[in-house]
Amino acid sequence: LELRQAISDHLSKREGIFYNPENQLLITVGVSEGMDLAMRAILNPGDEVIVPEPCFVSYKPCVLFAGGKPVVVPTCEANGFVARPEEIRAAITDKTKAILLGYPANPTGAVAPRELLEEIVRIACEFDLYIISDEIYGRLTYEGKHTCIPTLPGAYERTILLDGFSKAYAMTGWRIGYAAGSPEIIETMMKIHQYTMMCASTMSQVAAIEAIRNSDRECEEMVEQYNHRRRVIVKGLNDIGLPCLMPKGAFYAFPSIKHLGLSSDEFCERLLFEEKVAVVPGSAFGECGEGYIRCSYATSLDKINQALERMQRFVAKL
Ligand SMILES: Cc1ncc(COP(=O)(O)O)c(C=O)c1O
Repeated sequence: LELRQAISDHLSKREGIFYNPENQLLITVGVSEGMDLAMRAILNPGDEVIVPEPCFVSYKPCVLFAGGKPVVVPTCEANGFVARPEEIRAAITDKTKAILLGYPANPTGAVAPRELLEEIVRIACEFDLYIISDEIYGRLTYEGKHTCIPTLPGAYERTILLDGFSKAYAMTGWRIGYAAGSPEIIETMMKIHQYTMMCASTMSQVAAIEAIRNSDRECEEMVEQYNHRRRVIVKGLNDIGLPCLMPKGAFYAFPSIKHLGLSSDEFCERLLFEEKVAVVPGSAFGECGEGYIRCSYATSLDKINQALERMQRFVAKL
């Protein structure tokens, strides 16, 4: 309960929303478990979930494992890789149960503008849909303030907010996160959680209390670091001739390789073997990610600069 209280205080302070630590918060083994529980709690067989792509690799499998059907809404570079409300509306059927949002996004670093999210929430209200919002990169927002979905008009009751300690607090291996939502949903998620997981590791819970209560300064310093690396990597990629939008959040750059005549898979495999630089094919995150590669800048500036040099050599000889 101490961690749930700390999370409740944190959300009140940062976002001005209240979740009762007694029955509106559930500590999970990362957002990964939270995503799985959310889907299993709300979906009946055949129910549809709208999933904008490219997106984090576990979203569609979680829907499938829960017996649901992911309905993909592709996004594109011209729209900053943000889902357009009219496309979400067009994907709704009488089987649609939820819209899954994840901004800032992995792999694109996209951040959806507030007005656009308000519009998506209005659509969710109109069709009485749940919103599952993965805000694990919320604190890693570099331009403007992060929009926390449940703070938007009409969103609080229908949103399952998922967040965790893996990114902003660099605690990936501690496997700790949380879900926030209505007492009914949290109770249903809890039923599954208590029989499958029992609880998230108590050591990690103690560490998370310390992180959320006492590391604002360190977090801000880290965000500044990432912001600096973001500018270096995006400039470097564009200079090499790999056109890249400026990501507004998370810690990924997502340049295009479309003009080079290789598939994303081929590009990544050759870069790995020939120059020992690891990047991820955009196609791993959905069909519309083909033609792009995901470069993480959650590593030192030194390594980023070395990787850029090697990528330049690699692209020059293609
Ligand atoms: C968008 C997104 N959601 C969730 C996760 C998983 O987070 P966790 O470590 O909390 O399970 C990741 C990890 O890469 C991610 O990028």
